[in-house]
Amino acid sequence: MDTIAITDVAPRDGLQNQAVAIRTADKLELIRRLAAAGVRSVEATSFVSPKAVPQMADAAEVVAGVNAALPALRMSTLVPNLKGLERAHAAGSREIAVVLSATETMNQRNINMGLDQATTVSEETVAQARRLGLRTRAYVAVAFTCPFEGEVPLATVVRLARRMRDAGAEEIVIADTIGAASPAAVKARFAALREEMDIAALAVHLHDTRGLGAANAWAALEAGVRRFDASVGGIGGCPFAPGAAGNLATEDLVLMAEGSGLRTGISLDGLLDAVEFAESLLGRPLGGRSSAWLRRQRDKRVAA
Ligand code: HMG
Ligand code: MG
Repeated sequence: MDTIAITDVAPRDGLQNQAVAIRTADKLELIRRLAAAGVRSVEATSFVSPKAVPQMADAAEVVAGVNAALPALRMSTLVPNLKGLERAHAAGSREIAVVLSATETMNQRNINMGLDQATTVSEETVAQARRLGLRTRAYVAVAFTCPFEGEVPLATVVRLARRMRDAGAEEIVIADTIGAASPAAVKARFAALREEMDIAALAVHLHDTRGLGAANAWAALEAGVRRFDASVGGIGGCPFAPGAAGNLATEDLVLMAEGSGLRTGISLDGLLDAVEFAESLLGRPLGGRSSAWLRRQRDKRVAA
């Protein structure tokens, strides 16, 4: 049976933009529950400016906590520059992700650099991470539509993905930052990208703003993609990208994949446990499009 690899980005994408402060111990408990559900890879935190994103100020403590409690869990951390890499490495992170957006304005708003500088800084950061022996991912953000500049040319996405691959990034993550992609656009992007690079090195990171996250994930699957980012409970959103709602929920992706004969190794009941824990932290109902149904099924099973 075919398998897909899922990186749960809830601890970073999901928690970076919350109004309530989350304690480090609670972040670690969320990650522990994800691992207990069978999630093998998480994006745990980001080493960014605490002035820009106060919710990620405890990044070093999160990395140390995961390394101590869950040494076998694959853990990535987002770093926007060499300073972030230095902090991540010192904290014991063994895998990093750089974030390059495909437009001038999105890079300015997100990391205070233009497109050329962001590309060079991302290349230098990936190359230095490789020298340090770290695993590397590179996001190409706003790979479909930019909230400031509109539709992004396919050729730009391919060019930036190639630059990141040539710099040494082992995984290139094509991101629909504001959830504006369609299945046809996903298909076209991956068809073009796979002409240039190994499809096994490509991943997709979808936001579910318009309810098309699962359809877009299916289009990526059909295009040969087997690496997916998703976020338990559907929490997520970049604070610097207006209109960015939550990520494709991990439970929706797992339900769709397992129902289509693809193995994820992840338990839906385990994910519900993590969703409910996240709800207790954030004080509001969470969950992907499938989670009300999933909860009813579970409750019926428990009552029987
Ligand atoms: P800047 O102000 O231009 O940085 O910020 P700078 O180099 O001029 O330095 C200013 C100060 O920040 C200095 O400190 C630096 O040391 C410090 P001071 O001398 O004033 O005390 N600094 C740092 N501190 C901690 N960690 C660092 C770091 N770098 C510099 N890494 C910077 C530039 C990139 C730092 C800032 O803009 C930033 O942190 N941005 C955060 C961006 C972010 O986290 N965005 C959300 C994640 S991306 C996302 O969600 C999209 C994604 O999910 C994919 C998708 O959906 O598309 C990944
Ligand atoms: Mg995101």
